[in-house]
Amino acid sequence: MKKLLISILTFAAFLAPASADEGMWLPALISQRIGDMQAKGFKLTAEDIYSVNQASLKDAVVLFGSGCTGELVSNDGLLFTNHHCGYGYIQKHSSVEHDYLKDGFWALSRAEELANPGLTVSFLEYMQDVTAAVLKGYDPATMTEEDRQRIVNENSNALKAEAVKDGIGLKASVEALYYGNQYFLFVFRVFSDVRLVGAPPSSIGKFGGDTDNWMWPRHTGDFSIFRIYADKNNNPAKYSEENVPYHPKKFFKISRAGVKEGDFTFVYGCPGSTREYVTSDEVSYITEVSDPQKIDLRTQRLQIQKKYMGQDQAVRIKYSSKNASTANAWKKWQGEVKGVLKNKIVDRKKVYEARFRHWAKGTQYDGLLDKLAAVYARRNPYYIAYEYYNETIRSIEVLNFAAQFRKDGRTKALDGAIENFFKDYYKPIDEEIFVAMMTAFDKQLPDEFKPQYFKDKLAQFGSIEAWKNSLFASTVFADKEKVLAIKEGENLNSDPAIEMFSAFNSWFTKDLRPVVMETNNELRLLYRDYMRGQMEFEKDKAFYPDANLTLRVAYGKVAGYKPADAIEYKPVSTLKGIMEKDNPDIFDYNIPQTLRDIYAEGGHEDQPVCFIATNHTTGGNSGSPVLNADGNLIGINFDRVWEGTMSDIAFDPEVCRNISLDVRYLLFNIEAICHAAYLFDEMVFVD
Ligand code: ARG
Ligand code: GLU
Repeated sequence: MKKLLISILTFAAFLAPASADEGMWLPALISQRIGDMQAKGFKLTAEDIYSVNQASLKDAVVLFGSGCTGELVSNDGLLFTNHHCGYGYIQKHSSVEHDYLKDGFWALSRAEELANPGLTVSFLEYMQDVTAAVLKGYDPATMTEEDRQRIVNENSNALKAEAVKDGIGLKASVEALYYGNQYFLFVFRVFSDVRLVGAPPSSIGKFGGDTDNWMWPRHTGDFSIFRIYADKNNNPAKYSEENVPYHPKKFFKISRAGVKEGDFTFVYGCPGSTREYVTSDEVSYITEVSDPQKIDLRTQRLQIQKKYMGQDQAVRIKYSSKNASTANAWKKWQGEVKGVLKNKIVDRKKVYEARFRHWAKGTQYDGLLDKLAAVYARRNPYYIAYEYYNETIRSIEVLNFAAQFRKDGRTKALDGAIENFFKDYYKPIDEEIFVAMMTAFDKQLPDEFKPQYFKDKLAQFGSIEAWKNSLFASTVFADKEKVLAIKEGENLNSDPAIEMFSAFNSWFTKDLRPVVMETNNELRLLYRDYMRGQMEFEKDKAFYPDANLTLRVAYGKVAGYKPADAIEYKPVSTLKGIMEKDNPDIFDYNIPQTLRDIYAEGGHEDQPVCFIATNHTTGGNSGSPVLNADGNLIGINFDRVWEGTMSDIAFDPEVCRNISLDVRYLLFNIEAICHAAYLFDEMVFVD
């Protein structure tokens, strides 16, 4: 069996994927795709993309923070990523007096670059197939699944310890690919002194805001610039004034030649999560239950936030980051639902499953799909409530803040959390969200899936509004002075915020989580078989592992698309489009006056802004370098088009497009809007 699997895993990759341009490929195995890449126009070799013996393109790519990608663009550690990836850090440096979010920020010398405690960037040193080593000692014939899990953990820990033992800043992880049919070791070098160099004003970096988010045509200058610092020996080090700019093994050269329809492109980055191989049951749960209920709850929260943000500039700053992240997934889920319905993914999966069932008769995969369906049927009612808890209770800020004081009162360690919480807290928003979320909880969940505590409170107060009034009037956690007066070790169990959090939390941990964890575990095991089954069933297809925030290569070409009957989109947007959208009365479309003035001078109509291509990307690919056939930087990935967001579940080459910032618009902004052209001195331009 194992032998068969290994031959499938190595063999499969030479074959064609389900559709042209679909796939997020592992760099270490890119030799299996390089023929196809070259046939499509790529001019470099597999060694140029990934090598353990010499500097290669991978050495210029980093995991930025815990969920974005960034790329090195100078020998002095200069790094590009998206504005929305730097957003939280830019916000932390902002106040009403220095509103860097609104006005932008540029360090005029290296001494002015701003430190960002907590921000790290990780370079991949190498990755390695460790399947045999991870499963060493496991014998499926005589051992249980628990044995397997224990052996996998022990072996993985040993491999990780060995991998980091003599290197500064090394961090290792062992990741399961194909649901645990294959294991890879990833070894990273992590730098933690990463400083903010510059960010454009939000009217450039977030132009179009949530109105244009996930959409084409797009005109967002979604970039921000950081610099990595190292100690005198070029090694990772904690922040220190003594640190010096890091000299990377490799950085990207920049091409200003531009893009046109049909050009080869590839994206090198860290896609976060996809579910390409799940059953029709999972897809219908996502698009008929999970996405719609989360969309509904977020619609309500967003309306409440918006109302108060529009009334007061200080509130707008406080909630800008929270609002953007709530809105982002909210809008993506809507596109995903539409795309799945339009493409009839559930029906297509059902047809596929019927074929699989037929093929599986008499094999070890016989009956597998029925087992999967049975587990979903058992899990889903609990999972609905589980997801409801996450979108309701976990979005009431005061409850989650209070929870940190449950055990030991106010310890020294909480000083930072207290500052952070009140810097961005506005009680009227939280109060209204409390009422909206608890009302939805009451209306939407069946009675047997509500905690007794909730029912008791409703009976006690008569209405959610009255319950809210009482809670916010008597908790200490909505008032900074009162929180600062709490003593270490103080018992706060009778505070209504702690009481409520604890009651819901214990319902969640006792009544919901065990069933959800158990069933998810069963699903994971069944999917390990189903994944392998699919690979045997479709011997002629090249499979790529679902995204899991590990480094991947996606490739395709610059291409427009047809979103609907009689509409055809071109692949490149220009400054002309920004002027068409410009409107001082609409927050999302109010551009800086300087840009209007420059445009009025003439000659900038055709300045390219963004472009789309067929690369298969997902969340986490934000900030990824977009490269041309020579491996030079032409853009920065930051989004996907609305009609194609279902590519996390099923990729359709007709409409799935990634959206990139054209690097030439970044350069235009640095020079004309941000007056930071001194940065060009350290970049290398090939044309
Ligand atoms: N949709 C992009 C991504 O998923 C950009 C998000 C940030 N922009 C925004 N308007 N919220 O991250
Ligand atoms: N903006 C996304 C991110 O933060 C990328 C868009 C996508 O999901 O493809 O990674």
